[in-house]
Amino acid sequence: MHAIIPVAGVGTRLRPHTYTLPKVLLNVAGKPILGHIIDKLVADGITSATIVVGYMGNLVEDYVRTYHKSLKADFVVQEEQLGLGHSIWTARNSFPKDEDAPLFIILGDTIFDVDLRPVLRSKFNALGVKHVEDPRRFGVAELSGGYITKLVEKPEKPASNLAVVGLYFISNPKVLLECLNEIVTKDLRNKGEYQLTDALQMMIDRGERFVTFSVDGWYDCGKPETVLSTNRHLLMRSGKNREIVGVVTIPPVYIASSAEISNSIIGPYATIGERAQVHDAIIRNSIIGDESSVDGVLLDNSIVGNNANVKGAFKRVNAGDSSEIDFE
Ligand code: G1P
Repeated sequence: MHAIIPVAGVGTRLRPHTYTLPKVLLNVAGKPILGHIIDKLVADGITSATIVVGYMGNLVEDYVRTYHKSLKADFVVQEEQLGLGHSIWTARNSFPKDEDAPLFIILGDTIFDVDLRPVLRSKFNALGVKHVEDPRRFGVAELSGGYITKLVEKPEKPASNLAVVGLYFISNPKVLLECLNEIVTKDLRNKGEYQLTDALQMMIDRGERFVTFSVDGWYDCGKPETVLSTNRHLLMRSGKNREIVGVVTIPPVYIASSAEISNSIIGPYATIGERAQVHDAIIRNSIIGDESSVDGVLLDNSIVGNNANVKGAFKRVNAGDSSEIDFE
């Protein structure tokens, strides 16, 4: 089955990391965000994908072509950031030509933990959803009798708590394309953008049926805090420990086999990238990028990009009896 993966976004909330890398290539638990997504898609039966790139698209293309040869991938460029609906519309020539072939759409920053195989066999369109406390920054679904009756993009007053998480199985892509065409040609913008949610609502209005599937394992990577919590979740699931003489590791951790570490305590929840150098350090709940050097520091809740240097020093004190020193 074919998938469309839009990854054109700039990732402003993840600066400075996204000054040099597109968001989907940030390393979480030992692999770029997009790598986690593609591995899962391929495992569940997706064989080909169109990746809609924009910001630093050449890096995305190089990465996918080098590391994900099992996926037949092609790339289209979204020149302007005009919304998710526009991004999917940009990939319109890659919609299945066969009338009966379905299509799967997954947002490039949606790391998920759900078995897609039954979803990919669904008779109806199916959207991944999750109950969230405050759904106002998501697409929101209203249900009746097991079918979606209404979809609203980022409503101020949500009528339900069911957020659309970014996994869309489209059983009838031809109708989706007609709706996207209508939205773009008639310039039907919502919040300034062409929304995929609005195209899906149009499909419902035309009589297409939509069901939902629950996505409990949904790991957001939109901002530094959520990247770190996603790192924690993924390490709990599939951390990779390494025994290194002179280094104490507290699982779960991911330590790349080419990383060099000495006199340090690593973990819990630490990811150490390829060829990183870590000496005299304590690192927990943090991500250290490839080829970075970390020396003489205590790091918690931190993200260090690739090729970065973080250097501290041991402190010297000459503290008398009964003195109190607080380095905070
Ligand atoms: C997009 C969709 C929204 C969905 C969300 C999931 O919004 O438009 O319906 O709930 O992804 O992350 P974005 O986060 O791109 O603004």
